[in-house]
Amino acid sequence: MEILSATKLFFFLLLFSCHVSFLSSSATAAYSIGVNYGTIADNLPPPKEVANFLKTKTNIDRIKIFDANPDILKAFTGTGISVTVTVGNGDIPSIAKLPGAQAWIEKNILPYHPKTIIRYIAVGNEILATSDKTLIAHLLPAMKALRSALDLAKARSIKVSTPHSLGILSTSEPPSSGKFRKGYDKLIFAPILEFHKQTKSPFMVNPYPYFGYKPQTADYALFKPNGGVLDAGTGINYTNMFDAQLDAVYSAMKRVGYEDVDIVVAETGWASAGDPGQPGVSVENALSYNGNLVKHVDSGKGTPLMPNRTFETYIFALFNENLKESIPERNFGLFKPDLTPVYDVGILRHDQGVGPTSAVRAKIGRQ
Ligand SMILES: *[C@@H]1O[C@H](CO)[C@@H](O)[C@H](O)[C@H]1NC(C)=O
Ligand SMILES: *[C@@H]1O[C@H](CO)[C@@H](O)[C@H](O)[C@H]1NC(C)=O
Repeated sequence: MEILSATKLFFFLLLFSCHVSFLSSSATAAYSIGVNYGTIADNLPPPKEVANFLKTKTNIDRIKIFDANPDILKAFTGTGISVTVTVGNGDIPSIAKLPGAQAWIEKNILPYHPKTIIRYIAVGNEILATSDKTLIAHLLPAMKALRSALDLAKARSIKVSTPHSLGILSTSEPPSSGKFRKGYDKLIFAPILEFHKQTKSPFMVNPYPYFGYKPQTADYALFKPNGGVLDAGTGINYTNMFDAQLDAVYSAMKRVGYEDVDIVVAETGWASAGDPGQPGVSVENALSYNGNLVKHVDSGKGTPLMPNRTFETYIFALFNENLKESIPERNFGLFKPDLTPVYDVGILRHDQGVGPTSAVRAKIGRQ
């Protein structure tokens, strides 16, 4: 209870103050959060070192990877940090039938389960956005085949899902008008949501207010104090774009009858650096977005259309990845490859000798 009210208090303080310094506030609050551990880089530390760092120095208690990298799965054994693995988009057709799904599980999951906690298998990434008819047609069969293969292998704790970009919506503003793209609503999303309902697995979405950035709505996108955006359909005054995007997804789910399925935020984030002159991209903005996001999801207050619901959330990304195509894409990380923070969203354990608090302690001789 004490932790809960402290969290709420922090959220309030953040709403009403423009430039809160995390260096002073994060020392007293700790939030748990997931991160996407992307590896498009040639300078990252070995997975064992990453696993040990996350376990001992941060409150990150879950990671998501974009493949089923055996070194990462091995490295997180016994850490208590759960791992969400991803089936490569190109592998989807081959696992759409049970024998293929069983072979995939046998190779990628069973050697590590249950000593490594595998939480979800994400079947591909943003498959609808690929517009690839073969992949789209095989998506739900692959999810079902994996579910059966997991059940047969008695790996029932592992859930199956697939992350979607917000491009699945034809309308998202105002949030109450949110709907799935015509043609996909009944044919694709109703059956996928029925699968989630029956298997108690979540609908995964990748909302990025970052991509909706406009100078006029910057504060609204960044969780800074702003005049709000009214949804005339419901009379709700939205004060941040993240809530508006999630409620648009909720409205679309409700239109096809599945508003009770859990939502997981599989990716969201903000770049801390970009091309020269690129607006909206800075350490300060990345800190505002991700820092307030962590507090918002940890507060448990939900969104206007989903009060008191919690959303397991995975920030993109753990590291700056130097082999990504563009400068902003290379700067989504919370950490540099040498494990120093780009900025601290409140997930560093200051008692463990990381960050400014330990430096202060060292200075006053209480280390
Ligand atoms: C919406 O909320 C904001 C922030 O609390 C406030 O400044 C604004 O006046 C509100 N707008 C409406 C239409 O209620
Ligand atoms: C949400 O939680 C608050 C505080 O516990 C409670 O007063 C409110 O009724 C809840 N709302 C819903 C829709 O459950």
